[in-house]
This record gives sequence, structure tokens and C-alpha cells, in this order.
Amino acid sequence: MDELFNRKNLLELLDHIDEGIHIVDKNGRIVYYNKFAQRIDAVDIQKAIGRHLLEVYPSLTYETSTLLTVIRTGEPIYKNEQTFINYKGEKITTVNTTLPIRDANGRIVGAVELSKDITQVREMSEKIVDLQNKLYNNTKEKKNKKESTAKYSFLDIIGENRTMLELKNIALKAAETSAPVLIYGETGTGKELFVHAIHNASKRRSKPFIAQNCAALPANLLEGILFGTMKGSFTGAEDRKGLFELANGGTLFLDEINSMPLELQSKLLRVLQDNTIRPIGGTKDVEVDVRIIAATNIPPEEAVRLKMIRKDLYYRINVISFSIPPLKDRKDDIPILTSHFIRKFNEKLKKSVKGVSNEVMEIFKSYHWEGNVRELENLIEGIMSIYDTEIIEVEHLPLRLRKTEIKNPDKSLKSALETVEKELILDALEKTDYNISHTAEMLNIPRQTLQYKISKYGLKRDA
Ligand SMILES: Nc1ncnc2c1ncn2[C@@H]1O[C@H](COP(=O)(O)OP(=O)(O)OP(=O)(O)O)[C@@H](O)[C@H]1O
Ligand SMILES: [Mg+2]
Repeated sequence: MDELFNRKNLLELLDHIDEGIHIVDKNGRIVYYNKFAQRIDAVDIQKAIGRHLLEVYPSLTYETSTLLTVIRTGEPIYKNEQTFINYKGEKITTVNTTLPIRDANGRIVGAVELSKDITQVREMSEKIVDLQNKLYNNTKEKKNKKESTAKYSFLDIIGENRTMLELKNIALKAAETSAPVLIYGETGTGKELFVHAIHNASKRRSKPFIAQNCAALPANLLEGILFGTMKGSFTGAEDRKGLFELANGGTLFLDEINSMPLELQSKLLRVLQDNTIRPIGGTKDVEVDVRIIAATNIPPEEAVRLKMIRKDLYYRINVISFSIPPLKDRKDDIPILTSHFIRKFNEKLKKSVKGVSNEVMEIFKSYHWEGNVRELENLIEGIMSIYDTEIIEVEHLPLRLRKTEIKNPDKSLKSALETVEKELILDALEKTDYNISHTAEMLNIPRQTLQYKISKYGLKRDA
């Protein structure tokens, strides 16, 4: 019997059930998914296991998630209908039963949810209609299989910090619409990641995703690139489509919009207002359907004040906007980001780093991270490329980090105490001319303790 019902057998069995099964532990972290649940949610299980439910499902909240509610209340929820947008941007409707899981003492250790996907029934009927349409429009264009170039999805955005969860939630909602989005964040905070994720979760995901940095090109070139050129508009000009036309049906990401020349900004405003563009040298307007996402690395209000962004454009583009906090303002995410990058570079560099020492983590939490997440990622990659170590220690850090003062409150108490201790020992050592026994006596501590502290603080007599 035992063998028949060992855990592995059971889990394999659960993978063949036509119902999604989700298990989270009492802290809301995902511990199990069966295959069907993965299919419904379009979630990559490797990326989801061990992460917090709200991080993986930014559209849910503590209040709306049935799993988290059951953990809180201990009451089962039966046959509850839930509609949500999954990571492929599909609207999914499920009927769920959610039950608490208790240990032998009746304490709640997690919750399990069984989901029946009722979207399929509806989808089936839609497909039939679709097929019929196709029968009539047989000659219509072949499906364009070109992949979008936005490579990140919401699952690639690591972050459990409250603000980050809210941002993911807003971004997921943004993905449901085609309204313009304005993203502000310091360099390296993950703006590009969000832009990709929004595109990939939107209906436009199979259409082009094109990114253009507005600071990368001189003004006159940028205009041609964005809006296209017609033969004869200037010497050597060819008929060439601009990015707006190439991105038709998809998403155009205008990075560093604050560097776009003001006259060009007014042209952009026109596209946003009536969805038409006019190529340079052209005489006719061309209709386009493009979702604009713009990013700026200076605060938008300030960019407007400094006349780097036109006020009228700002109001038009600021329909959905969010600002990604700098890393130093979401220190609670540093540990998971650190382990995420260690995992990433273990794989890439074929290393087996386990983590960072506590001291290093303290430094990470006090450091200013002016390059934000990118700086953390590059730092970890750099260390892992140079050193073969299981644990990343302070000595592996570059000087700029080693000089960081630890500001964590309880740690600073500790370091203050250590400073006092070090001074007392040094003082006594000098008085006894570095005689260990006398110093230990004087301080009323065992010899071994003293010796340990001397080596810990490196208290050698000056040469
Ligand atoms: N929340 C996150 N989770 C995982 N990786 C992240 C996160 N935020 C940023 N990164 C990583 O940090 C790097 C920088 O992110 P990204 O390119 O999105 O920053 P950015 O805000 O566009 O910066 P810039 O203004 O310099 O263009 C990328 O390699 C990205 O993968
Ligand atoms: Mg960027």
C-alpha cells in the first residue's frame, strides 16, 4: 500500500487530471502546480515554484486571492468562479474549490486549489465560428508567424516589494488596453522589462514590438526613422517605411522620450490623437494602429518643467503612468534578486555559488545602488566570473562596496558596540605592552576570548 501511494506516484497521477491543482504554503509561496494548472495559467513552473503567489499573479491581491483568503480564514471556499488574464494575455474563467491544508495538530500549513477551466467551452464555440469564417475567406492572408522581439514577460520581473507588486498589477491592467503608457525610473530599474512584459501580455503580442531610443540618433534622422521618408524628400531619400508603419498592430517603445526634439514631439502628439502619420516628403496621411510606451529616466514632471517634454504631449501620453522605485528604496527585494542572479549565473557560468554571507547582504542593503538592479546583476556576474567560491564574502566585493557603511539599525548598534569593544581592548593591550594574559585579566575575560577578538579585529601592534 505504502509503495503504491508514495508521494511521487501521487504527484505523477495529479499531472494527468483535467483539473488544475495549485498548492501554496502558509506564507503564500507556490509549492506545487500540476500540468493542467500550468496550461491554464500559462506560467512556467520552473520560474514560479518558491515564489509568492501575488508576485506570480500580479492581478490578484491579498483580498481577492482565494488561496490566501483560505489560509487566513481556515474556511474552505467551494465552486467560486474566477476570471483573470493569464501570462499569455488570455482571459481565463475557472471554477475553483479551495481548501486549507492542516498538519496533525490542526494548524494551517498551506492551501490547495482545484480549478476547472470553463473557458474552453466558450473557446470551442468561438473556434467553430472562426473556422466557418475561414471557409468563406479562404483566400485571406497566410498567418504571419514572425515572433515578437520582446523577450521578457511578467515572470521575469523579480520583486515582492509592495510597490513592485502594485506596479505589476497596474502593468498587467495596462496590457489589457492600448492606451499610451509612460514609465519613469532611474537607470537600471527595469523599465525595459516592464515594457516587454506589457507587450507580451497584450493582445498585440504576436505583432511587432519595436524599441527606439530617442537619445541615440540626431534629431533629423530620428524623424525619418519614426515616420518614414518618401523618394525625393531630400537628396538620396528613398521610399522607406518608418517605425510607426513597421510596428503597425503592435507596440512602439520610445525610450528616453525626454531626449526627443520638441517639434518631433508635436508630431508624435498628432499620431496619438488621430492615429495617422505623414512620412517626410509625403502628401498623404497613413493610418496606423500602434501602442506607444514611452520611458524617461528623469521624473516626467521635471522634464516638463525643464521643457524637455511638451506639456500637451505629457498629458496625452500620461494616461497610464508609473514610476519604478530605485533599488535602494526596495531593499526587501535585494535578497530575492541576489539569489535570482546567482541562480542565473550559476547556470550561465557553470558555477555552484550558494549565496552571499550575512555581512555581504548587510552591505547590499546599505549600499546606494546608483545603477539599480543592473548594477546588482553586473556585480554578481563579475564576482562569479572571477572567483570560485561557494559563498560570496566581503573580500570578493569591489572596493566601492566594501567602503559602504552599514546603516541597518540593529547592525549599527552592533557595530557601535564592536567599535567600543575594539577600543577597550586596544587600550588595555597598549597598557600591558601587548601581554595577552595581563590584558585578559585586566578586561576580565578568558584568554581565548581575547585572542579570538584580537584576530577578529586585527589588533596587531604597529610595526
Ligand atoms: N525586477 C527585476 N527582476 C529581474 N531582473 C531585473 C529586474 N529589474 C531589472 N532587471 C535586470 O536589470 C537590467 C536592467 O534592466 P532594464 O534594462 O529593464 O533597465 P532600464 O530601466 O531600462 O534601464 P535604462 O534606463 O538604463 O535603460 C536587465 O538586465 C534586467 O534584466
Ligand atoms: Mg532601458
